[in-house]
Amino acid sequence: MPVIAVIGAQWGDEGKGKVVDLLAEKADVVARFSGGDNAGHTVINSYGEFKLHIVPSGIFSPKAICIIGNGVVVNPKALCQELDMLKQKGIATSGLRISDRAHIIMPYHILLDGMEEASRGGKAIGTTNKGIGPAFADKVARNGIRMGDLLEKPAFKERLRLIIEQKNLILTRIYGASPVSSEQIYDEYMEYGKRLAPDICETTAILDEALRAGKVVLLEGAQGTLLDPDFGTYPYGTSSSPISSGASLGSGISPNKITRVLGVFKVYCTRVGAGPMPTELKDATGDLIRERAHEYGTTTGRPRRCGWFDVVAAKFSHRVNGFTGMALTRFDILDTLPVVKVCTGYKVDGKTIYDFPASIATLEKCEPIYEELPGWQTSTCNIRKFKDLPPKAKKYINRLEELVGCPANLICVGPAREQTIEKSPIL
Ligand code: GDP
Ligand code: IMO
Ligand code: MG
Repeated sequence: MPVIAVIGAQWGDEGKGKVVDLLAEKADVVARFSGGDNAGHTVINSYGEFKLHIVPSGIFSPKAICIIGNGVVVNPKALCQELDMLKQKGIATSGLRISDRAHIIMPYHILLDGMEEASRGGKAIGTTNKGIGPAFADKVARNGIRMGDLLEKPAFKERLRLIIEQKNLILTRIYGASPVSSEQIYDEYMEYGKRLAPDICETTAILDEALRAGKVVLLEGAQGTLLDPDFGTYPYGTSSSPISSGASLGSGISPNKITRVLGVFKVYCTRVGAGPMPTELKDATGDLIRERAHEYGTTTGRPRRCGWFDVVAAKFSHRVNGFTGMALTRFDILDTLPVVKVCTGYKVDGKTIYDFPASIATLEKCEPIYEELPGWQTSTCNIRKFKDLPPKAKKYINRLEELVGCPANLICVGPAREQTIEKSPIL
């Protein structure tokens, strides 16, 4: 009964899409459990190259049922567009199921996301402007609308009318913007509801049945641990929990059923959007990594900030997730470098610290302490066995395992599904 949670271990974009696509070959169910279409998961396999924002990356596996879990916020327009794109490319989407408990991103959430960001001025978070924060805020404020509501026409119409009355007060009186039309939104969302209705259901029952039958379940994370509302660099983060406990909450699987927690780490760090990143390189090496790896956001196209692997952050991520293993991605990107560095501690206010601080003000002052390792300066992208890696490459991987305190299951040496080394089995 293996249940594997695939978790972003840094600031997102670690390569979760690639890892889920690879593991989905053997999975019966793949469930996304957090975030919304702020995510951008790149999958490169024999069907082509895909950038998925909301559909789980297991969609390419013919036998897998793919669930959009209760912990996801769904923009139905974006979902319909993504389903159209997949169909056009010949990918079957009949295995998709959407939790009736998943909340819906409404047009006013997207408007408010933009207006809230503008009002933050120089302290803007740098959100993806997909309405994520306002949609999750409405969920906990009990002002949300759920996918299941699209199936209950009169009740949906009345609820939408009441909520929009309140939203229009905020839009017009606080932001001086134009009001939105309840009727127009109702008509538009009824169309999405009609289209998606056959796939909207009680998804916890599907997962329960799969577990009872001893099937393989993957829980696909979005975003990354350091964007978590509790454990990330708050307020510079996202609005739902990308960590392993979020996998349970956002799918309806009990924590004691999750048998493996795979932490996906890049072998360096990236971050898109604002907020502290102690190992950020604002120099030629940072630029070299960005250009060699084409580190530009999958969802927004923004350049990603690049820096060395941060062990302090990685150990904290391991602590709050309980990783059973790591997937180390983008290994080939470091192939040309004469020296690779890892940050093992921070210097702050004349002291050395080894624990990831909660305070943004402290994090912004942290200066990384680096350990240097020799680069392997050999291409690794065609290597498929750990034993065939250059000795200095093995040494770097072993040192990361030792410093983080977690074994590596997978090493990724290129973006395609097959460009992967299994160092030790996940199951
Ligand atoms: P996700 O959001 O975690 O799924 O990651 P993204 O798809 O946003 O960003 C990861 C990027 O790294 C994508 O462009 C992937 O195709 C690419 N990628 C994943 N693993 C590797 C790897 O091992 N090597 C290289 N060169 N690219 C990789
Ligand atoms: P995947 O799943 C990287 C970042 C945004 C911003 C902050 C808040 O592809 O790893 P939001 O729109 O969520 O309110 O933005 O979080 N962010 C991501 N960064 N990868 C992601 O997803 C992200 N999803 C959100 O850039 O800093
Ligand atoms: Mg991404």
